[in-house]
Amino acid sequence: MPQIRVPEYGLSDGRVRLRRWRESDVPALVEACRDPEIPRWTVVPAPYTEIDARAFVAGQNERLSRGEGAPFAMVGAHDGDFLGSIEVTLLNRRSGRGEIGYWVAAAARRQGVALRALAIISEWALGELGLERLELLVEPENGPSQGVAEAAGYTREGILRSYRPMKGRRPDFVVYSLLPSDAPAREALGRAGYLTHTGR
Ligand SMILES: CC(C)(COP(=O)(O)OP(=O)(O)OC[C@H]1O[C@@H](n2cnc3c(N)ncnc32)[C@H](O)[C@@H]1OP(=O)(O)O)[C@@H](O)C(=O)NCCC(=O)NCCS
Repeated sequence: MPQIRVPEYGLSDGRVRLRRWRESDVPALVEACRDPEIPRWTVVPAPYTEIDARAFVAGQNERLSRGEGAPFAMVGAHDGDFLGSIEVTLLNRRSGRGEIGYWVAAAARRQGVALRALAIISEWALGELGLERLELLVEPENGPSQGVAEAAGYTREGILRSYRPMKGRRPDFVVYSLLPSDAPAREALGRAGYLTHTGR
């Protein structure tokens, strides 16, 4: 698959910046992933070690070079502080579908970080990457993540029963989608009052 071109600086709304993963992210990654809420809802393993983090960082940049997806570290646009992880996986280039996954470090939660990152990556994936449909799959019990999806203007479509394996289980997933014809996720940010002071 063709390589995905990510701008050198990454993507930003002036507050949150999405950039390529770096080896120097490893210590912050290990610290963040020791919060049990992250492995609980994502494929992040538990316990999480420095070896896991090093393999993750190397693997993410390979995925980008192979054109399989665009994985980003979320950092503060001004201070560079590590905030979390978000990626869009290209499910099948011909189908034009992408799936987004994310987590935010515990200390950075409830400040609009996931919402901003989701709006930034969605706008880029539907615009620059030319995807025709973005999907978010969230477990029915994961209320916070469903809140993020809805705040970003994603449409809840229904339940995919026993959809795929996840750490020895086969959970149901609530499927959310965003299409190019939907109001841009950025508008949802504006409605939520998050766009008042962006430097973009
Ligand atoms: C889900 C998660 C990414 C949310 O990150 P966040 O940066 O705290 O989310 P935001 O601050 O952008 O929240 C945006 C909106 O989502 C909803 N929301 C987020 N967290 C919520 C919570 N704990 N309870 C209820 N609603 C919540 C709210 O509507 C919120 O807007 P508000 O704060 O103005 O009310 C974070 O809790 C997390 O990393 N959880 C563990 C990993 C995970 O579940 N990943 C997703 C797998 S599908």
